[in-house]
Parts: sequence; structure tokens; C-alpha cells
Amino acid sequence: MARAFVCVRVLATVLLLNISIVSRSMGLRGKERQGASRIPSEFSPEERFAMKEALKDAIKIPTVSFGPEEFNTTALAEFGEFIHKAFPNLFKTSFIQHEVVSEYSHLFTVRGSDPSLQPYLLTAHIDVVPAPEEGWEVPPFSGLERDGFIHGRGTLDNKNSLMAILQALELLLTRNYVPRRSFFIALGQDEELSGNYGAQKISALLQARGVQLAFIMDEGGFILDGFFPSLKKPFAMVSVTEKGSLNLKLQVKMTPGHSSAPPAETSIGILAAAVSRLEKTPLPNMFGDGPLKTTLQLLANEFPFPSNMVLNNLWLFGPLVKRLLERNYITNALIRTTTAVTMFHAGIKMNVIPPVAETVINFRIHPAQTVEEVIELVKNNIADDRVQLHVLSAFDPLPISPSDDQAFGYQLLRQTLQSVFPDVSIIAPGVCIGNTDSRHYTNLTTGIYRFNPVYLQPQGFSSIHGLNEKISVQAYETQVKFMFELIQNADTEQRSSPHQHEL
Ligand SMILES: *[C@@H]1O[C@H](CO)[C@@H](O)[C@H](O)[C@H]1NC(C)=O
Ligand SMILES: *[C@@H]1O[C@H](CO)[C@@H](O)[C@H](O)[C@H]1NC(C)=O
Ligand SMILES: [Zn+2]
Repeated sequence: MARAFVCVRVLATVLLLNISIVSRSMGLRGKERQGASRIPSEFSPEERFAMKEALKDAIKIPTVSFGPEEFNTTALAEFGEFIHKAFPNLFKTSFIQHEVVSEYSHLFTVRGSDPSLQPYLLTAHIDVVPAPEEGWEVPPFSGLERDGFIHGRGTLDNKNSLMAILQALELLLTRNYVPRRSFFIALGQDEELSGNYGAQKISALLQARGVQLAFIMDEGGFILDGFFPSLKKPFAMVSVTEKGSLNLKLQVKMTPGHSSAPPAETSIGILAAAVSRLEKTPLPNMFGDGPLKTTLQLLANEFPFPSNMVLNNLWLFGPLVKRLLERNYITNALIRTTTAVTMFHAGIKMNVIPPVAETVINFRIHPAQTVEEVIELVKNNIADDRVQLHVLSAFDPLPISPSDDQAFGYQLLRQTLQSVFPDVSIIAPGVCIGNTDSRHYTNLTTGIYRFNPVYLQPQGFSSIHGLNEKISVQAYETQVKFMFELIQNADTEQRSSPHQHEL
């Protein structure tokens, strides 16, 4: 997850205010798979040993994305060979087609027996962010097991998901499983950079084939445990949208001259004033638009007094909550498009009037705004034609995926959570302020759910893209079990009864 960890942090802070949700309604009908009984998610000691060893082997391959166009292609190629060895059945089953995309990414097409059921897609990424050894308890690419944990870069982001998906399918195949519903598995090579070679190309391929998906499951949410003092129970956060992004270059050009007879304003002064105006005039507080307000209302009753009372009466306390959320820079990121001045270049010599001054500003766009709207607002705030705007890169926020009773993917996650994690009764839709590969797939479905079925404590959360990333052997086994169940649950049909209650 490229900075997707921030989702967790943001949500954590919002939840100091607080959140939760229990809705035990089931949107899925438990229709058994045709002619076959359900395969229990029980694994032999040999299988459990093999699955953790496979994860360790995956961690040992340093599939690092260093920077734009800088991948470890040796490691990526090695990873391709590795999955052939670790999951032989995936490559020799007649109803599974395997394709290599952009040399190092992988697409599996698993053909179900019932073509009337719309397929779905499970995705995870092969690459990891760099991990300099300094500060790690064990070398980051050792895959060492210690005290019940497998250590290393990628154990939470995101080789655990990748391996759990493949492992679950491999185990199902050894039990002669044949799916009813078709599905795809997409493994991208460059999520930590942009996904332009992996997810983007895989998506283009599926679009060219006219594929439409029932839903997509990607990384970007966890079962959050111990983040919120007021909430005793862990709860599952399924991210239903992501913020957009805009990198804007501001540029001021002037005629260079000698500093002994300067003009009243230099390019640096003009640009600095523009930057200062932008920092002093935050983009509008959008609380009330987008999913956050609804989520808070849905969750109101899970909180102790007075949070519950406040959240149940947003008609009255809305303005207060709106202001409170602004006061913390993390919750602030949830309610508005953020403005971060990240680069500033100007000047060539101590006694020369600078010809050019440039700055780069990174905006993270609130789900209720667009790139275009943000550019317009920025132009108005700067209010100086001498400052030229150049869009370096941009994408709109992702559409909000449905999380109601009729949302097949969401209900499937809920159903699977309830059976694999009986202790987790709370599922909350979240907003991801980081980004994942999901944005490349928006043409294929309206239901994109970002969720890793793994408990995450605050310590684990800071290890993502940080030091000492690790996963317990038990958590990984449970993740495999979750995927094993989810794939079978997806063979049910979507309930067609009318929507029963509006929220
Ligand atoms: C790239 O990966 C290979 C293993 O596949 C490894 O031997 C090599 O050290 C890695 N290179 C870098 C720069 O990390
Ligand atoms: C979605 O489809 C439109 C129209 O075909 C295309 O222009 C656009 O690039 C596609 N977007 C993605 C992310 O694939
Ligand atoms: Zn990731």
C-alpha cells in the first residue's frame, strides 16, 4: 500500500471522537455450491508448516521498488519463478489461465462452472518499499521466524495478502475445488510507485476483453485493535474510497538582472507570497459531503457518552464536530483537500535577480471534490496572474463503493469476517487517504473494497513502510483461512430481495 497506512492513522484519530457499527444483516443467501458440499477450512500440520515457509521464502526475495523506473527486475523475475514452485496446482489446473503482464506482473483467470455469475477480482502487489537494515531487529529480507512472528519487509504490506490468496486457492485445488463463480487474481509489480506497469496494464487487458466485475478486494484496511481507548472491541475497517491527488507546480518567471538595482518584487517574493496565501487559506472543510458524516451517524451508538449523544445529533452538533475535526492535522486530512508545499527552487547566484522561482504543492483531494475544482480554488486563492500553474500529475478521488445490504462484495466480506473472526462484530466503511492500485480498476466495477483480514495494533501499523514489519504465524494462517472461506462464499448468489431499510 503506497502510504495507505495513513488510512489507519486517520481513522484512528477520528475514532477518538468515535466510531463503530454493528449491522448483522446478511445480504447473501447461503445457497450451497452446486452438487458439492462446503470444504472445511482446516489444514494439516504439514500444510500449515508449508504455508508459513512459503511466506518466508516470498519475503526473502527483495522485490524492492526504489523509485520511478527503478525496480529490482532480478528479484521480480525470481518471484515469478518462485510462485510456480510454491503453488504448482495453480499452473496446471485446466480451468485456470495464467498470463504474465509487463514482464513481471501476473494475471490468473479462474473459470467458474456457472458463467451467469459475474466474476470478481482479488488483487495484491509483489513490490515492497526499500528497507535499509539499520534499526531492524532482524535483517528485513531474512523472513526470520522468532517468537511466533515472521519478520521482514512485506509481511503486512503486501506479500501476506498476495501469498494468502494464492495459498488459499492452491489448498482448495488440492481438495478438488471447482468454483461456480469465475474470478481473477491480479498481482502487480509496481504498486509502491504508480501501478503503471502492473495494475494499469492488467486493467487495460481486462477492459479490452469486456470484463465487468462484481467487486474487487484490494489492500488498504485492517481489523484495528487497541487504537481507540473508548472502543474496547477491535473492529474491521473496510475502505470504500480513496482521496485523489494533485501535484501542482507553481512558477514565476522574471527578467534576470543585477541585485544592485532590484525591481520592487522578485520571482521569489511573488511566489513566496502565493505560497503563503495558500497555506493561510486552507481549502474548504467538506464535512457533511462524502461518506464520513454518514459513517459517524451509523456508528454513533457504539460510543460512550457524550460522543454517542453528539454523533446522534449532528443536526445540532454538526458545526462543532466540523470544527473539532479541523483541529488535529490527521482528522483535518479527512474533511478537506490538504495542501502540502513539498518543494521550492529558486535563485542561481547571490547577486543575481532570480529569473525563475518554482514550487511543487501536493494536494490530497477530498472525495467530494475533483482535480478541476481544486485547481480553480487554488487559482482564486493565489489571485496573481504572474504565478503560472502546471499540473505535474493528478487523479480524482475514487468513487465511493456501496456498503449497503445489496452491496455484494461488502456483504461477502462481512459474512466471511463473521465466520472467521467471530470476535469482530463491528465493520465500518472507511476513507483511505493514501493510495492503492485500486484506482486503475475503477472502470471494471463500482465495488472496490480495501481490506486485509489481519488484526493490526498501533505498533504493527507504524511498521508498515517503517521498521520491524512482521506478522504472526497465526495471523497469516487466519488470513489464508479467510481467503479459503471467501472464495467459497463468493459462489453464493446475490440476494435479490428489495432493500429493507434506508439509513
Ligand atoms: C535484487 O534482487 C536480487 C535477488 O533477486 C538480489 O540478489 C540483489 O541484491 C537485489 N538488488 C538490490 C539492489 O537490492
Ligand atoms: C476508463 O475508460 C475510459 C473510456 O474508455 C478511458 O478513457 C480511461 O482511460 C479508463 N480509465 C482507466 C483507469 O482505465
Ligand atoms: Zn501496499
